[in-house]
Amino acid sequence: MHTSVLRLRVGIIANPLRAVNEGPYNRSSMVDLSDNLKRIRARMAEAALRSGRSPDSVVLVAVTKQVSVDRIRQAIDAGIRIFGENKIQEAEPKIAQIPAGGEVEWHFIGHLQTNKAMKAVALCQMIQSVDSRKLAERLHLHAQRMGKVIPVLVQVHLGDEATKFGAAPEEVPCLVRAICSLTHLRCAGLMTLPPHRDDPEAMRPFFARLRHLRDKLQSLRLPGTPVQELSMGMSHDFEVAIQEGATMVRIGTALFGPRS
Ligand SMILES: Cc1ncc(COP(=O)(O)O)c(C=O)c1O
Repeated sequence: MHTSVLRLRVGIIANPLRAVNEGPYNRSSMVDLSDNLKRIRARMAEAALRSGRSPDSVVLVAVTKQVSVDRIRQAIDAGIRIFGENKIQEAEPKIAQIPAGGEVEWHFIGHLQTNKAMKAVALCQMIQSVDSRKLAERLHLHAQRMGKVIPVLVQVHLGDEATKFGAAPEEVPCLVRAICSLTHLRCAGLMTLPPHRDDPEAMRPFFARLRHLRDKLQSLRLPGTPVQELSMGMSHDFEVAIQEGATMVRIGTALFGPRS
């Protein structure tokens, strides 16, 4: 067994949220998870190769919303290293039991209120959902106090639903510029959660748009950051996202099964 996993196992502490610990930890669910992972990795590799990219150029972020700590441990045993959570209150007890370290990383992928910025900086190795200057400045302040440099992605709102979060595409260059001036944040790229379409092909224009925006930012040659990453694609559309240049795909249900 991987030594960091062994260390994580030994480091279990009492869990304040019982629900987080519930869920079977038996051989058959382990086999399901390994099989799902194998299939997803094969599909990711094929999508990358078909678009002339190396399979290594795309990272899997396993979305653990409503997934128990036991299942997350199974995922680590199966070889997953990067996990994504979209609520601080759900992430906190899980990360207390499975802290980052060894190769395990936690990414924050949900809407972040400024009053939770300190926890996000304390708990996560990347924040994928920065959508305002105010939030960026708050994250920077806490990162500075904790002596950290936190990689962040700017979340871009590409649909027309008023309910979704993210910066409007026209605001993104200005926000990225602002983040580049904050010494304790590193703007690593862009993330999007486009409006859902049943047909994965219908997602392609959104993914292409995020890539064009990233390319435009790269042409600005902003100091101190490559603005490289494109976090886009989920269970039902990750192959299309990879074909359009995703460097990170965020996958929950295809890996862990449907959420309740
Ligand atoms: C921001 C974000 N990305 C990715 C996912 C994963 O979605 P799916 O379960 O369809 O793979 C979720 C799920 O809640 C999410 O909130």
